[in-house]
Amino acid sequence: MPLEIIRNDITKVHADAIVNAANSALLGGGGVDGAIHRAAGPELLAECLTLGGCEVGQAKITKGYKLPAKYVIHTVGPVWQNGNNNKEELLADCYKNSLTLAKEHNLVSVAFPLISTGSFGYPKDQALKTAISVIGDFLLRNEMTVFLVVYDKAAFRLSEKLFSSITQYIDDKYIDDQPFNRRFVEQPELKESYSDDPMLFSMKEPAPAKKRKRSLEDVIKHMDDTFSQMLLRLIDDKGMTDAETYKKANIDRKHFSKIRNDLHYKPSKTTAIALAIALQLNLDETKDLLHKAGFAISHSSKFDIIIEYFIDEGNYNIFEINEALFAFDQKLLGV
Ligand code: APR
Repeated sequence: MPLEIIRNDITKVHADAIVNAANSALLGGGGVDGAIHRAAGPELLAECLTLGGCEVGQAKITKGYKLPAKYVIHTVGPVWQNGNNNKEELLADCYKNSLTLAKEHNLVSVAFPLISTGSFGYPKDQALKTAISVIGDFLLRNEMTVFLVVYDKAAFRLSEKLFSSITQYIDDKYIDDQPFNRRFVEQPELKESYSDDPMLFSMKEPAPAKKRKRSLEDVIKHMDDTFSQMLLRLIDDKGMTDAETYKKANIDRKHFSKIRNDLHYKPSKTTAIALAIALQLNLDETKDLLHKAGFAISHSSKFDIIIEYFIDEGNYNIFEINEALFAFDQKLLGV
């Protein structure tokens, strides 16, 4: 998975490089800076002393010493201070310059903390948005595995607006698999007896699916397509390249070639959905593609409802979708 959001202590992550949220002096400090120096040992500070500090938004690289990571990329985030003077640009530069350094050193994987979101006070939802957009853009043009390492869940926050609209969407659609709710669906007469008590009756009728875009003869003609055949036909129909497809699906090249070369390839549900997102399929087309892999969209799955939310919103940015899935403790899209 080119971009993976994980809960961990970054000093324990086995990546080619981990990124340190340092200060301009590069002499260590608290937070992730202190943790990295403690885990790497005194040789890290000794090498940092030879670097002559680091400007805000810039990045410098040292060895990792006792860390599992071979290298440490030190970058200095902006201090928030009510967000004036192009703080967003400086924060974006931290990610861009660290990724450039990683690429120059031919690194295969790099792990980032959420830079500036601790003692530098940068609002976590805005910092996350910047991180996801810079890393996502880099990965559409480069081959690398990037981990966004979240140390404490509190440090991970979607924008309030996005979080509440997804929560509302789940409330509207979610049919938990308690027999109580299912009884309403199977025995509509029960609704009357509870409808005056909103606490008890929380389930609305699922919204009618958007009208199917595919014609009947198209469905019949491709009835026997396998998942791979339907996928490759859709890629051609959309005029996309393989690389565009697997990058927008957050799938690595090796995995995609397995799909392309095996007519009877059976993907996992998250892989099938990731590819539907990459192809920007509407809900009906997504259901068709999933059906080829033996899956269906279910309103008793929060994961499925969150996917449906983004398709309904027309937001096919797989990195933003993964940000939301992570916030709701769901599996991420991609492989
Ligand atoms: N692994 C991963 N993330 C961590 C870890 C860890 N071991 N420890 C802290 N974090 C997270 C915090 O939860 C926060 O979300 O790293 C993010 C950045 O927090 P800070 O480490 O405080 O870094 P920052 O806000 O960029 O401030 C940098 O703090 O430690 C000093 O010397 C550093 O002066 C510099 C300033």
